[in-house]
Amino acid sequence: MKAIILAGGRGTRLKPLTNTMAKQLLPVANKPILFYVLEQIREAGLTEIGIIISPETGHWIKEAVGNGSKWKAQITYILQPEPLGLAHAVKTARDFLSDSPFLMFLGDNLIEGGIKGFVEEFNSFHPDALILLKEVPDPRLFGVAELDASGRVMHLVEKPKEPKSNLALVGIYLFTPEIHQAIAQIKPSWRGELEITDAIQKLLEMGREVRSHILKGWWLDTGKKDDLLEANRVVLDDYLKRDIKGEVDSQSQIVGRVEVRRGTKVESSIIRGPASIAEDCGIRNSFIGPFTSIGAGTIIEGSSIEHSVILESSHILKIERLADSVIGRSTEVIKQEQGFKALRLFIGDDARVEL
Ligand code: G1P
Repeated sequence: MKAIILAGGRGTRLKPLTNTMAKQLLPVANKPILFYVLEQIREAGLTEIGIIISPETGHWIKEAVGNGSKWKAQITYILQPEPLGLAHAVKTARDFLSDSPFLMFLGDNLIEGGIKGFVEEFNSFHPDALILLKEVPDPRLFGVAELDASGRVMHLVEKPKEPKSNLALVGIYLFTPEIHQAIAQIKPSWRGELEITDAIQKLLEMGREVRSHILKGWWLDTGKKDDLLEANRVVLDDYLKRDIKGEVDSQSQIVGRVEVRRGTKVESSIIRGPASIAEDCGIRNSFIGPFTSIGAGTIIEGSSIEHSVILESSHILKIERLADSVIGRSTEVIKQEQGFKALRLFIGDDARVEL
């Protein structure tokens, strides 16, 4: 079985961060989302991986993943010249896939517990498609599945205005090569894209078996700011282990599951986990609260930060209470006056905010 990861798209909902970065490389607990995807695919025993990239962000993906040796995987990059939909991406990967069954994984999706069990289910039941579903509060934002009383998939619709169920299609799918026949028969949707949801619906109409699995654990779709914070919170909460490799002075206190990577210096500060501080940071006279990730080379001085993601090489100075914020690379957030209000920021790379 082969795997394709969809790592294209323009990341419009995450601008300005995605002006200078592919959305699949945004860090969750100081590791790019795409790296978790690669790990989950390798854990399921798949080694031949095609990564679909776009002309706009493909070079960043290539630079980060390289030849895949870090994951002991064989990587093939496949250029999708335009974002014409998920089914179009499968078409683009046709030569790579040849007649192999395959896993398709959207590079900004993550699920609890990985995909090993899902791949095993596909191999034991041999359906033409195995889809993963999750109950969501607003199904209108996703592909939606309608099941009959016995749990069989009856009908699938992409982003319906009036959803018939609250079961969203998770961005992880397994297919036999039969899907290519289905894709050949569908037309672009109202948003001008060849939808994979329509192709799976076509499989149903062709009398093929589409099996579904309802996911009980968490599903993260890191497409927007709040999802990124939520992903950071969930991953820190579930996976982070206490690991102090940097220097912590005697005036500081590190409480709970906190990671302080090599080259980082913590002085006169309190860090309360779960929190991850990457390499070569300086944390001085500050409080870092739970669910915070600080990227490499960032300096935090005289500030208090919680439930936030700060990327690399930024500088946060004298901010009394930074919360629920995502801050890009090489950004300065500097307070010049006194004040006691919480700040909620969503600003891009290379920005400077003075308050
Ligand atoms: C895509 C799929 C949708 C699925 C979602 C999961 O949506 O078209 O069916 O539910 O991924 O992340 P998009 O991200 O293109 O809006």
